[in-house]
Amino acid sequence: MAKAKMTTVFYCQNCGHESAKWMGQCPGCREWNTFVEEKISAKTAAPSLTAKERREAGTPARLSEIALKDEERMSTHMRELDRVLGGGIVPGSLILVGGDPGIGKSTLLLQVCRHMAADRRKVLYISGEESLKQIKIRANRLGEFEDSLFLLCETNLGIIEETMRHHRPDVTIIDSIQTMYQETVSSAPGSVSQVREATNVFLQLAKGMGTSIFIVGHVTKEGTVAGPRVLEHMVDTVLYFEGDRHASYRILRGVKNRFGSTNEIGVFEMQEQGLAEVVNPSEFMLDGKPEGASGSIVSCSMEGTRPILFEIQALVCRTNFGFPRRQAIGTDFNRVNLLMAVLEKRVGLQMSDCDAYVNLAGGMRISEPAIDLGIAMAIASSFKNRPLDDKTAAFGEIGLSGEVRGISMIEQRIQEAVKMGFTTCIIPKVCLRQVKNKNAGDARIIGVSSVQDAMDLII
Ligand code: TYD
Ligand code: MG
Repeated sequence: MAKAKMTTVFYCQNCGHESAKWMGQCPGCREWNTFVEEKISAKTAAPSLTAKERREAGTPARLSEIALKDEERMSTHMRELDRVLGGGIVPGSLILVGGDPGIGKSTLLLQVCRHMAADRRKVLYISGEESLKQIKIRANRLGEFEDSLFLLCETNLGIIEETMRHHRPDVTIIDSIQTMYQETVSSAPGSVSQVREATNVFLQLAKGMGTSIFIVGHVTKEGTVAGPRVLEHMVDTVLYFEGDRHASYRILRGVKNRFGSTNEIGVFEMQEQGLAEVVNPSEFMLDGKPEGASGSIVSCSMEGTRPILFEIQALVCRTNFGFPRRQAIGTDFNRVNLLMAVLEKRVGLQMSDCDAYVNLAGGMRISEPAIDLGIAMAIASSFKNRPLDDKTAAFGEIGLSGEVRGISMIEQRIQEAVKMGFTTCIIPKVCLRQVKNKNAGDARIIGVSSVQDAMDLII
């Protein structure tokens, strides 16, 4: 019997670049130490289609000839998820869901199954990680399930492909891509070539059968989905499920979406009976805000079309060492350093012998420059040990000369602050003319043009 010919290739874990020999630096993405060895058996099968069949299959179509009968989206009945997906699941789409272990990916997707099944849609949940009994235990926590949900514990791609073709589900869940393996590829499940092969199979199935497939992907310690980057290129939508594991809220963020905007986020709370949607994230983020404490102020960030209020906390204290410590949780460390330098130079706050800690309470991660003014005011308030008014929110970008620059969507931010009961908003002076009185209500709107102006407001 002829032995399958095995060849060794090296793949870059980061970008999927293929090479015949090992290299220290990848020529594709310039990353170091990313090449791994994989053995693959070379396929020598003859092409499966005849020339005539190939010609017929490859007939191009005119744009006007394409009928859009399937363009309607399937609602998941979870508003937060629908929003991130751009209005629901597009039939035939491939959606990758990444996130840390234990963050709630399987729970979220089982809940999607529950809602889709209640809609009389055929759903297939394929798990390579848990047994049927384990899934049943989880399902019992989530509530009643309709009978149109089917479960399968399998990791062999051949069997899965056959089952899907036979069963023709509307929605399929693959939990997780790193456990799936193709027999013809000899490397271990989770390796670059297996992950790529498996994704390819699901891509063909999704586009060919029109079933929508959710793929769970594990993340590496750098926070990207394990396996080659090409995985993210192949799928239609990439969602990341993130949040502090010690806190109960979770954020679903779109990183790529061929059918919608990637700015939107979905906010959930992990409860006893699974994930609950958080309809008013600002209220959630401001829960437990201290009153009358120095170094605390509320700011507002736009997540897509949605304004979210959150608390910025700063603690500035004299250092015990020669070298002051600086730490930022939830925002960019370098940005905090830059703002401290601006405060030293433009306002004259001498903080070179002080430790400084900045924290966005609630565990949000925000890099929008519109929160600069809030950070600067929190730092100054802590340094001077003077509390800011509890009902004040501040938003604006700060430039290197200490000027407060304009920001976008000022009205939505003010509206959200007013809705949450804030009575004073400190905003960039240049934005004042965009504010209409009807949005501000009774709130006092103060325009500042420099950091110095803002400092004068700290009692
Ligand atoms: P899971 O969905 O298994 O995470 P992943 O698939 O991302 O690894 O999430 C499991 C965590 O969620 C686990 O620590 C228990 C918790 N959990 C709840 O708090 N309530 C629930 O109703 C369920 C099902 C899980
Ligand atoms: Mg899981």
